[in-house]
Amino acid sequence: MKVVFALGGSVIMPREGDAENIRRYAQVFKSIKERGHDICIVVGGGYIARRYISIARAFTNEAFCDEIGIMATRMNSMVLIAALGDYTVKKVPEDFKEAEMILNLKKIVVMGGTHPAHTTDAVAASLAEYIDADLLVIATNVDGVYDRDPRKYRDAKKIKILTTKELVDITKSSTIEAGSSSIVDPLASKIIDRAGLKTVVIKGTPEEIMNVIEDKHRGTLIVPEKRD
Ligand code: UTP
Repeated sequence: MKVVFALGGSVIMPREGDAENIRRYAQVFKSIKERGHDICIVVGGGYIARRYISIARAFTNEAFCDEIGIMATRMNSMVLIAALGDYTVKKVPEDFKEAEMILNLKKIVVMGGTHPAHTTDAVAASLAEYIDADLLVIATNVDGVYDRDPRKYRDAKKIKILTTKELVDITKSSTIEAGSSSIVDPLASKIIDRAGLKTVVIKGTPEEIMNVIEDKHRGTLIVPEKRD
């Protein structure tokens, strides 16, 4: 199976991030690779992206703040690359052609952002479309898609399964300013819908990432609408 992971920066590199945390993620991705899957990991910017963007915003525009965010995603990628050793190459691809070349070398692809005005979720969705992935996994700090924001509403309910069109409806009100955080970036939702990508949204723990591969995750499954 060809799988693209959008791995939230706050998941892999939380504020108190350490080598042990990275080692656990590297181990799970190595095991998935050893099971014969082709994998790409698009790493988010997390805490360092938000911190640097919030300082830079006093001086500059959103597009330049986005560029700072992209640098943060690439720094986080480099740390994961360091931990993956020979399973990957010491290069963060900056576009999909480079990513595909690394995939064709049978190595794990680890990349960050590409261009301003979207998030790494959109990069992951677009990469999944580009390489004809079988599955897109959005591994984040919420354990699925809810009917309303579970961080604000205690009675929010997790949705087990929804269509790509329903995902577009749920996420369309999110903003796209630099460093913003919604469960799925609205642009990513639109790409998922147009590409008809089977997608799961999960809490990004190493265990739950492996659960996806073993088809026993507890997140939300997003399936394409049936087309004639
Ligand atoms: P992300 O918002 O993708 O980071 O990128 P993240 O870590 O996944 O977020 P969480 O932790 O899951 O919530 C950080 C910022 O970098 C810029 C945007 O400003 C984004 O908010 N960025 C990232 C881009 O402009 N383009 C990209 O392709 C990627």
